[in-house]
Amino acid sequence: MDLRHTVATKISTALTQLDVSLTADQVANMLEVPKTLDLGDFAFPAFQLAKTLHRSPVQIAQQLAPLVDATGLQKVEAKGPYVNFFLDQTTFAQTTIHTILAEPTAYGQADLGQGGNVPIDMSSPNIAKPMSMGHLRSTVIGNALANILAKLGYHPIKINHLGDWGTQFGKLIVGYKMWGSEEAVKENPIKNLLAYYVRFHKEDKEHPEMDDEAREWFRKLEDGDEEATKLWAWFREISLKEFQKVYDQLGVTFDSYNGEAFYNDKMDEVIDILEQKGLLVKSQGADIVDLSDQDLNPALIRKSDGASLYMTRDLAAAIYRKRTYHFVQSLYVVGGEQKEHFDQMKAVLKKMGFDWADEIVHVPFGLITEGGKKLSTRSGRIILLEKVLQDAVQLARQQIDEKNPSLPNKEEVAHQVGVGAVVFHDLKNDRMDNFDFNLEEVVRFEGETGPYVQYTNARAQSILRKAGKTGADLVDAPALADPNAWEVVRYLGDFPETIQRAAREYEPSVIAKYALRLAKAFNKYYAHTKVLTGDATQDSRLALVAAVSAVLTSAFSLLGVGAPAEM
Ligand code: ARG
Repeated sequence: MDLRHTVATKISTALTQLDVSLTADQVANMLEVPKTLDLGDFAFPAFQLAKTLHRSPVQIAQQLAPLVDATGLQKVEAKGPYVNFFLDQTTFAQTTIHTILAEPTAYGQADLGQGGNVPIDMSSPNIAKPMSMGHLRSTVIGNALANILAKLGYHPIKINHLGDWGTQFGKLIVGYKMWGSEEAVKENPIKNLLAYYVRFHKEDKEHPEMDDEAREWFRKLEDGDEEATKLWAWFREISLKEFQKVYDQLGVTFDSYNGEAFYNDKMDEVIDILEQKGLLVKSQGADIVDLSDQDLNPALIRKSDGASLYMTRDLAAAIYRKRTYHFVQSLYVVGGEQKEHFDQMKAVLKKMGFDWADEIVHVPFGLITEGGKKLSTRSGRIILLEKVLQDAVQLARQQIDEKNPSLPNKEEVAHQVGVGAVVFHDLKNDRMDNFDFNLEEVVRFEGETGPYVQYTNARAQSILRKAGKTGADLVDAPALADPNAWEVVRYLGDFPETIQRAAREYEPSVIAKYALRLAKAFNKYYAHTKVLTGDATQDSRLALVAAVSAVLTSAFSLLGVGAPAEM
């Protein structure tokens, strides 16, 4: 049991004497961590009880404090509307460090999910177009959420809902037939396919007949025409190969690549249900579902020419996922600009009678900007992700060459640091925040960066190497009453709760920010404290060092960032 729950159990027991019944879990969720250590390690706010008990929060705090069993605690104190809990530092340090070192990878694990399936719709780039910074965000946020949920006993299913269907494929085929060649596409698939598409959009203004042709080709594609299908399959395959290079660099894998096209034969059912329920209405030749009762724009289900739409495929996908995975939650890690789309999707599913639509969560995120400006594909301001990651690795390599020229596995470390820096930078920002991307800033070894945290961990590892000890050797080292170490120990104890908060809020930044705080606290400790004392205190201090490294490594693995032992 972690310390928050130990304290929560004591409070829950004391509360029964006031005739209040709150479970330890409920209390644990109410417990706050005071901003400064002089207010204790946990604080229980009495506000919420005031109504039930018909007393002021201050009075309740005063009554409650003496009722708490203070064994194992330093003291329990009422202060204003709060009851503050001061942990016994030595006991706390002992329990926490021992728990971590005894089973480092299990620390923070919990079975909240009980194996429940959680499909995560993530990455989902569009065929024949470059993967954007937005897709990168979706990939790394989705991947981190999968790791976090798995740690808490859920079973994540990572789905790459590729944009591999839609009217744009008609345009692409027309463009390819007019200006393209097999050699050009083979040589540089994304660049050339994108060029046909862009040129199509320029020229169709003067030649509107091109649009009819494109519509015709997409109709053929939807009807399974051989030539159209062959071209489509080829565009898809070569695009995917390009995307795969980025996934390999990131070390991200998927459980499914079922993209939009996968739902081709599953959309009729959607339309049937909508028709049966009388939900489908004609509007300017198209079929829509009216959502004005929800204050939403109508959902477009079928175009006037009969072509299917993004929404229709998403409705089919949502139903397929429920039937296939029996999910407890279904997540969509997609940019904030698609909020309305997902609101509409949920609203239509509800109207269709699928109450499980409430378990669908759109996990939106903000934009990556450059000099505060939005990056957009349209304006031609595209950044090639593969190149961004390669440049990051190059910058990392340069710094390693300066700092540690004789490092044996330099290439591997440069990769972990460079790519890790980009991923960490993405994940340390609140999901919804827009942020600037400046590679030099991102790969710096100082400041609030991934390399800084990796470096801290490598330093901890190097101390252990020097002493010839591993965490396993130090499991039973007695904890010291060391006020200098308190901040570090306190953070170590917070890790389990931090993971749960990240999951509750679908917010990997909670973990990244935690890793930064822990690294900073550890570096401060290390600047003041000699660890390799050579006397009886040495093992106790090394145990703290080993615990810090274990927790940082664990945090990195949740974020999908490598943790080099030396750098
Ligand atoms: N391909 C879409 C895009 O790039 C994202 C798809 C998100 N997932 C979904 N089920 N709609 O904008």
